[in-house]
Amino acid sequence: MRLIMLGAPGAGKGTQAAKVAEAYGIPHISTGDIFRANIKGGTALGKKAKEFMDAGKLVPDELVCDLVADRIAREDCQKGYVLDGFPRTIPQAEALEKAAADLGTRIDYAVDIEVPDDAIVERMSGRRACLKCGATYHVLYNPPKEEGICDVCGSELVQRADDKPETVKTRLSVYHEQTQPLIDFYQGKGVLATVDGTLPMEEVFAAIRDRLGE
Ligand code: AP5
Ligand code: MG
Repeated sequence: MRLIMLGAPGAGKGTQAAKVAEAYGIPHISTGDIFRANIKGGTALGKKAKEFMDAGKLVPDELVCDLVADRIAREDCQKGYVLDGFPRTIPQAEALEKAAADLGTRIDYAVDIEVPDDAIVERMSGRRACLKCGATYHVLYNPPKEEGICDVCGSELVQRADDKPETVKTRLSVYHEQTQPLIDFYQGKGVLATVDGTLPMEEVFAAIRDRLGE
């Protein structure tokens, strides 16, 4: 199964993509996590991406499209994948259509997690992230077993540099301008599945499973 997760920053794409990946035995590919790992590792890609990410803006399409095309061509993606945070612009969606078609495949589902803007800012202030394995927590809604430590890999949890309220506002307006048009794009392809992202995490996941129906 090949699917993408759509939704505003903080809608729960990463949280739900991890559950989908585990339930269906497919890789979870987050472009945000790939960029953060590159920033941490001090790579040339990380250096280029950092200035855009810290400002809450999108990294240019040319830095992300080939990276994803290469990633979905790898062996572990043969049975499918869940893309989280890609595509986010119409040119990225078109590049993904082409990359999937070149592999003789197509995107089966675009899951849109709907959360109103006012709920987003509160979620972001409580988020904690593991930069090593990409796991995501929330101090109230999904706390780690031991404060500040990742349940999965034992690394220290951090607050993301782009989760400051001013940057979250910029990310939301970038989302409305550049990413929201993808909802119509995937609706037109007949693969859109919309879920209410304001429900508790397990209920959001149950709704997604229901829509995927596999
Ligand atoms: P990215 O890392 O993709 O960030 P984002 O889209 O802004 O989304 P987030 O990761 O902030 O939120 P999420 O939807 O994954 O929510 P989460 O599950 O963590 O991208 C970061 C930056 O990288 C971009 O701004 C851009 O610069 C760059 N970038 C990445 N991909 C790119 C691309 N394709 N093109 C160009 N640039 C790109 O949940 C949020 C919080 O809420 C957590 O604390 C969680 O525990 C909690 N939560 C989740 N679900 C619930 C629930 N149901 N109830 C209560 N709390 C919940
Ligand atoms: Mg995320």
